[in-house]
Amino acid sequence: MNFELNEEHLMIQKAARDFAQTELLPGVIERDEHQKFPAEQIKKLGELGFLGMMVAPEYGGGGMDCISYVLAMEEISKVDASASVVMSVNNSLVCWGLETFANEAQKQKYLIPLAKGEIIGAFCLSEPEAGSDATSQRTTAVDMGDYYLLNGTKNWITNGNTASVYLVMAQTDVSKGHKGINALIVEKGMEGFVVGPKENKMGIRGSDTHSLMFTDVKVPKENRIGEDGFGFKFAMKTLSGGRIGIASQALGIASGAYELAVKYAKQRKAFGTEIANHQAIQFKLADMATEIEAARLLCLKAAWLKDQHLDYDLASSMAKLFSSKVAMDTTIEAVQVHGGYGYVKEFHVERLMRDAKITQLYEGTSEIQKIVISRFILKG
Ligand code: CAA
Repeated sequence: MNFELNEEHLMIQKAARDFAQTELLPGVIERDEHQKFPAEQIKKLGELGFLGMMVAPEYGGGGMDCISYVLAMEEISKVDASASVVMSVNNSLVCWGLETFANEAQKQKYLIPLAKGEIIGAFCLSEPEAGSDATSQRTTAVDMGDYYLLNGTKNWITNGNTASVYLVMAQTDVSKGHKGINALIVEKGMEGFVVGPKENKMGIRGSDTHSLMFTDVKVPKENRIGEDGFGFKFAMKTLSGGRIGIASQALGIASGAYELAVKYAKQRKAFGTEIANHQAIQFKLADMATEIEAARLLCLKAAWLKDQHLDYDLASSMAKLFSSKVAMDTTIEAVQVHGGYGYVKEFHVERLMRDAKITQLYEGTSEIQKIVISRFILKG
């Protein structure tokens, strides 16, 4: 067993760290306050290859492994989780889903610009009445011969307005349950496709989250991903890798808050000494550091399994369940270490605390991860 990162990993980690410090940190408070999408920064992330990291070079990607992706996600998330969710959705849910399951024509048309970061994508599974219960899709895609007639509403869609390409799950044959669901590639601008208002969120406020409405949208048959009825499995398999991305985002939020807490504890004086000299603070920092290291190991193990083409469904759910809890616990403690200053925006930790919560909700709530994990435990 080798826990060492190689030269390439260290280079990618450093590049992501430098980008976060120089390009994302300035303005992150204002973007959060005004719910401003980091458009310029996302464009630059794309130019640097961070939006299609794992895609093969012949499809415009960086050809990197999943470990590199975890390292980059952690660094970007330490500073700006609104930017890292865009990165995560584009890499794991959109590019990976297309590279793994789309046909050659679809890859040529959609994957290449997505992997190059020229456009960004969205993954559309959740509905007003089908969040955790993803089999109960109400959006319909009626088979009309050459095309599907798409009707319904999707919600909580990351990149809802900024995306150009949307992977939409819809029910073609209700009688077949999850086997009647298809995944369709929908383009922005298709007639009958309307983007709803932006959600006013507690955290990751710089990311654009919208509901989407489809009314008699004609989606060409050639835009279906995989065989008829493959949509639910497409979504589940894709989400499994997506959970490694969100676990790494949670890890980054936690380690970002921890680093700020350490820095503050060494500077702030109370009772005649730096607060880092008080055991009450030392115990908090020790707990944070230990939990973050455990979360990092779970994220890297899930990524390693994926890189080895071994089954990673259990590992990705464990990484997400644990890292998102560590993100929540660490950010709360980081605010506590900062005292009153932690409660104001200038010190960043209150934003990280608000951002942390989403990691326990999207790409499957913590309860969903426990369902997935317990099924592995109990199946045999
Ligand atoms: N890989 C491949 N196939 C899988 C799978 C996986 N990881 N997980 C399930 N399946 C298959 C099953 O094998 C089964 O197929 P068969 O009938 O052929 O055996 C089929 O899918 C149905 O599976 P289940 O019976 O397990 O389905 P279920 O109704 O019990 O639901 C669930 C399972 C785990 C609860 C699932 O519904 C789930 O993951 N829900 C959460 C959805 C979610 O994560 N939503 C996030 C939205 S996207 C998002 O947040 C993105 C963003 O913007 C940031």
